[in-house]
Amino acid sequence: MSVISKGLEGVVATDTRLGDVRGEEGQLIYCGYDINELAGKASFEEVIYLLWHNKLPNHSELAELREQLAGERQLPDQVIEFLRTTPRTALPIDVLRTAISMLGLHDPLRTADQSLEAVRRRAISITAKVGVIIAYFHRTRNGLDLPAVRKDLSEAGHFLYLLDGKEPSKKKTETLDLAYVLHAEHGMNASTFSARVTISTLTDIYSAITAAIGTLKGPLHGGANEGVIHMLQEIGTPDRVDAYIDQALAQKKKIMGIGHRVYKVLDPRAPILKAMAVKLSGELGEPKWIEMSERIAALMKEKKGLHANVDFYSATFYYSLGIPTDLFTCIFAISRTAGWTAHVLEQLADNRLYRPLSEYTGDPVGKNFVPIDQRKA
Ligand SMILES: CC(C)(COP(=O)(O)OP(=O)(O)OC[C@H]1O[C@@H](n2cnc3c(N)ncnc32)[C@H](O)[C@@H]1OP(=O)(O)O)[C@@H](O)C(=O)NCCC(=O)NCCS
Repeated sequence: MSVISKGLEGVVATDTRLGDVRGEEGQLIYCGYDINELAGKASFEEVIYLLWHNKLPNHSELAELREQLAGERQLPDQVIEFLRTTPRTALPIDVLRTAISMLGLHDPLRTADQSLEAVRRRAISITAKVGVIIAYFHRTRNGLDLPAVRKDLSEAGHFLYLLDGKEPSKKKTETLDLAYVLHAEHGMNASTFSARVTISTLTDIYSAITAAIGTLKGPLHGGANEGVIHMLQEIGTPDRVDAYIDQALAQKKKIMGIGHRVYKVLDPRAPILKAMAVKLSGELGEPKWIEMSERIAALMKEKKGLHANVDFYSATFYYSLGIPTDLFTCIFAISRTAGWTAHVLEQLADNRLYRPLSEYTGDPVGKNFVPIDQRKA
């Protein structure tokens, strides 16, 4: 009798040099670096390089990567046309998933040339375009022009430039860059697993990233950050938090941004984001969001022994940065594309098709076929 682990909990599906989530200690590692060692010191581009090459870049390697990314920002005309004509009510994360899939159509060698070098070039191209797709869709749905892509800005700075149509401040750019660094990699999470399963069939990287984005979208994964802001808006004021949580728990509702499959203690990214969120919401003059968040986190710890996860404070963080709520999961996707593509490359370098088993719980075998006109109503 085989042992079933629902949701593959506790199952080690592969080895990886990329990231480690140490749930008991509350530690997150990127290629040997504790996340606290990188946060606030390494740029997102340095982290991308680290994940793709297993080492931090020197000056010339970083300059080369920045140039490669900047040189790949231009979207194909047909993708821009799709962004212009897709319903403005479409969910941005759905638009992103579709646009990444479309990019594959513009790469005729996507399945014919699966050399690591070719896949690495595609990884650069996809990573460079994710933010452009999101910002362009946001602008067209609001009837705004599409500024030409630029080569002189960092990934975070360029996204903010396209989104707002104006030069972002250094501070805002650095703040978003920190969020990108914190979300870039997270072990065998659901979307990364999706990407690895997909590429393990030796399909193309566009398919793998499309699958990952579809997986990230769900409210139990990357969609939770949008759920947090909706919850805070629904609660409205700090004095209503206790009653809201009591009622939600009585109704067995999940509180978004709380709990984690692997972390049994505090998610190490949460305090970094919380500190930034406190600062930002203070500067914005709306400290109530963080006040409500802190009370929710305290109540959930007290009543259920559960801690806040990365999405809990990233929601207030993005909100305070002025990023529209329905783009939160997309911001997560921009950053996680670094991790997904690194996992795709790692999987391809030593591939074995993912093909687990399932335990059959259907009717006993031995049923006889009954022709359709003899079956009971
Ligand atoms: C992340 C998550 C899916 C992990 O779930 P899991 O490992 O499958 O854990 P379970 O859903 O089985 O939860 C275990 C227990 O904790 C409770 N629990 C877990 N997360 C909870 C939450 N956010 N709110 C309320 N209760 C929660 C469950 O109800 C369950 O309680 P029970 O044993 O009394 O039935 C889950 O914590 C969750 O749904 N969180 C909210 C969504 C979220 O923030 N996702 C982003 C993750 S980074």
